[in-house]
This record gives sequence, structure tokens and C-alpha cells, in this order.
Amino acid sequence: MRLGVLTSGGDCAGLNAVIRAVVRRADTYGFQVVGIHKGTHGLLTRPVEAVPITSADVSGLVGRGGTVLETTNKGDPFAYPDGNGGLIDRSADIGNGYHELGLDALIGIGGDGSLAILDRLARRGGWNLVGIPKTIDNDVGHTETAIGFASAVAVATEALDRLDVTAASHSRVMVLEVMGRDAGHVALHAGIAGGAHVILIPEIEYDIDTVCSYLERRRSRGHNHSLVVCAEAIKEPAGDRRLNTLAQGERRYGGVGERIAEAIAMRTGAETRVTVLGHVQRGGSPVAADRVLASAFGVAAVDLCAEHRFGRMVAWQHRRVIDLPIEDAIGSYQAVELDDTMVTTARGLGITFGDT
Ligand code: F6P
Repeated sequence: MRLGVLTSGGDCAGLNAVIRAVVRRADTYGFQVVGIHKGTHGLLTRPVEAVPITSADVSGLVGRGGTVLETTNKGDPFAYPDGNGGLIDRSADIGNGYHELGLDALIGIGGDGSLAILDRLARRGGWNLVGIPKTIDNDVGHTETAIGFASAVAVATEALDRLDVTAASHSRVMVLEVMGRDAGHVALHAGIAGGAHVILIPEIEYDIDTVCSYLERRRSRGHNHSLVVCAEAIKEPAGDRRLNTLAQGERRYGGVGERIAEAIAMRTGAETRVTVLGHVQRGGSPVAADRVLASAFGVAAVDLCAEHRFGRMVAWQHRRVIDLPIEDAIGSYQAVELDDTMVTTARGLGITFGDT
């Protein structure tokens, strides 16, 4: 078989470990692997931007951050910028790129948005797809975890550890803003692991006065400092989500932590500081858990190809890799549920979500 592999959407730690696992497992079957550059963009350019990858090429990749194949989170092929301010459907060109490479199947490593696009492309173009979920946001349905999540949580946890001691030195309230698009998993897990006192996530409506009363109670009990972790997609105290429009017209979250810190300072008189962690959460070496997950997913994805079981996504459930139809996974977005064990755990630890 001749397998294509691409990474699509935002990068994260662990992508190279998946590429390595795909290539090494393919090697055991005698399959060829072709690495496609920059997600589906590589299939749009002519000549197609793709190179054969061998086991020798992936040596030493297990712990390297980023993706050697490069990636993009722009340019929906079904509504692709035509260069004149309009949008055109380039899906057929991508399909032609796949067939030009003579692929028997494509392994697509992406989040919910990328997997949805790849699934639609594969159906329309009549090609074979196997999906591998990656996202620091951990919001892909039917998988308990996705590649990159554990590493992002580890980075955010380390940030909280570092902020805790400087907060204590200066008697400050430190606000850490973390990524997660519309899901609060990173904030929730890092908040628990890093000893935060307040966790604010988009799934749980907070009241800034409740947050401030909680912080004042802590202070009156002799705690000279506090840690607040907030997800980038929470609403500002005034009510709106903080979306910024970037130069290319895209909209991204960022900056709500500043508003939270201001509101706390105004209401409580506490000295506050803000750290926006940003893409630090996506870069760097994957933690061991992500390397292991990436290896298991990469091997399982090639096995699915060998068995000609296409249109499937690998997933992690109950200590093992399973697989399910890609459409089922992308059809069930996984936000934090109100009865999530980690929500219960945080409440049990006395952490507030600013709702009660
Ligand atoms: O989906 C992953 C993610 O890192 C989100 O958590 C974040 O909102 C977004 O991507 C940032 O995207 P970009 O890399 O385009 O700034």
C-alpha cells in the first residue's frame, strides 16, 4: 500500500511522534508512506507538495515538538480564498492531488474542524481516510484524550507552579489565561494540577462578584495570595467573549485574563498580574503520555489501513485504542460537562468556578 500522512489544524506537541509511529508501523507491512506538506494545502499545489518518508527519516522524532510536515489552520477547501476577495470550492483539486500521488489511503491527523473537512473531502473525492485526533483543546468527541492535550496541561501546570511562588512573594492575585478555544479542559485540568483557587471555564457561567467574595474570604483567612486560571473563551465580566480580529481577518480569543485581573483589582483592592500563556502551550517537547498516545494511535491507524477499514478515527477509551466512524466523533463535540469528574473534583477541593 501507499499511504499519505498529513497534519492539519493548529500544531501541538506529539505530532511528530504520530508521524514516526505511522512510518514505523507501515514499514513492518512493507507499505510506503508519503508525507504531505501543510495539511491539505500540499494537495492543492502543483506539483503536489509531498515527499516519501522512511523509517530513517523519522529517527529521533518521538520527542520533538511541532510537526516536520508543517500544518495550517486556515483555508477551508470548500470555501477557499480566490485571491480576489471571493471564495471558491477547491475540493476537486485536492481530490486530484490525492489521486496524483497514487495513494491507497490517507492518514489525517487533526482536530474536530480538520477531521470534518477531511471526511467531507474523502467522501466527495472517493478516497480512503483514517483519522487521528489531536488537539490541546481535547474537544473531539468519543475519545477521552487527544494528542497534545497532556502536554498543554503540563505547560499550564508548570506556569501555575511558577506563578504560585511569585504570587506568595508579593501577596498578589495571579491570573493565568490558557487556551482551549470553546472548551475549558486545559484550564480545568491545569487548575487542579497547579493548585489554582479559581477556575473559570466557558461551560460554567461565573459571576465576578462571587469570584471576588471568594478571594476576599481567602485573604481574611490569612492567605496572602491566590491563583486564578481562566480559559480564553470565557465571557468578560461585562458579558462578552473577547475575540480579536487578526490582520488576515481571522478571529481568535485572547485578552480576557486582563479584564478579569482588572475587575478583581477594582473590587477587592488586591494587586493583580496577568500571564497569557498562548502558544507556549502548543510548542516544546511532548510529555511521555502524549508520546505514548501518539505511538498507539499511529500504529492503530496503519493497522486500520491494512485491514481496509476506512472512514474510521482512532480513539482512546477505557485504557485502550478503539476506532469509530469519523462522522460520529466529529458529530459529538466534547465540551466540559457539568457533572465531569474533574468539575466534581475541583469543587471537592474547594476550588470555585465563580458560580456559587
Ligand atoms: O485549537 C487549538 C488552539 O490552540 C486553540 O486553543 C486556540 O484558540 C487556537 O488554536 C489558536 O489558533 P492560532 O494558532 O491560529 O492562533
